Amino acid sequence: MRAAVWLVAVLILLGAASPLWAGPFSEVPAGHWAYSECSRLASLGLLPSDRGANFSGNPQLTRFEFAVTVLDPLAGLDGAVAVLGGDASPTQWIEAAARGLGLSPDRSESEFSEAALALLRLSDEFGDELRALSFDAVPARQALRQLADARNVQAWRVEALAPPPRALALTGAPAAIVLLIEPKGTPYGEFWVQDASAAMENMLLAAVALGLAGCWVEGQIRRCEDRLRAVLGVPDNLRLWSLMPVGKPAVSPDRPPKPDVSEVAHYNHFGAARAQD
Ligand SMILES: Cc1cc2nc3c(=O)[nH]c(=O)nc-3n(C[C@H](O)[C@H](O)[C@H](O)COP(=O)(O)O)c2cc1C
Repeated sequence: MRAAVWLVAVLILLGAASPLWAGPFSEVPAGHWAYSECSRLASLGLLPSDRGANFSGNPQLTRFEFAVTVLDPLAGLDGAVAVLGGDASPTQWIEAAARGLGLSPDRSESEFSEAALALLRLSDEFGDELRALSFDAVPARQALRQLADARNVQAWRVEALAPPPRALALTGAPAAIVLLIEPKGTPYGEFWVQDASAAMENMLLAAVALGLAGCWVEGQIRRCEDRLRAVLGVPDNLRLWSLMPVGKPAVSPDRPPKPDVSEVAHYNHFGAARAQD
């Protein structure tokens, strides 16, 4: 019962997409503000079978009652992940979370990540009540954070250097970010070069969004990678793949010459120009 109430809240918070299935509860007609969430719960088999055709959604919950519904999965998660070591794999986190939350482990990883984030938000919202109930939410929150990140199976790591060591010779840059990567496949395939590149590109965009500037340095590294790895104490299994000096831009250079879009963009067929509007 409590898990079901909690899941209603989680799915409402998540703004679950409208399902295509018909609503199973006579008192929750299509168009009801909680129709999607109730229907989704029913289709996932997450509601107790004794509910019949009534969702019984109208009784009011106090904040304390709600805190207890939040506490249930938090405590379950605590117990389930307590046996996991720090090296637990994403799959092990997911399985432990499934056990702790009383859900079937065949849910997708993203559903667990979303549920973990929603539960984190709820444990924030009901932090005072949880404390008043003498529940220490810290371990569960750490587990939830790891669970929410469990889908991040990328092999890259970053090391922030402020200031950068002289060996990096980044004249004038007050800081640098070094991108390290384990050159191995992820569960999705052998995409570590692409993963590292996407991470670097996104960090550049984030830096610019923060009013900073950086430069993607990769070519020069290849000649001195071993020396840089030794300076930074990078473990043997990680390559030092690229780095980004970062700081406040001293100048705002003009945009370098770029080819016109018509020279590089093709529409539906290579070589075809876009039809005039
Ligand atoms: C894959 C990749 C590797 C790069 N490696 C280096 C590098 O080793 N040294 C460097 O000064 N800039 C490097 N850059 C940055 C480019 O020289 C250039 O500044 C950047 O792509 C922006 O281009 P734009 O100034 O023509 O817009 C690299 C960029 C990319 C995409």
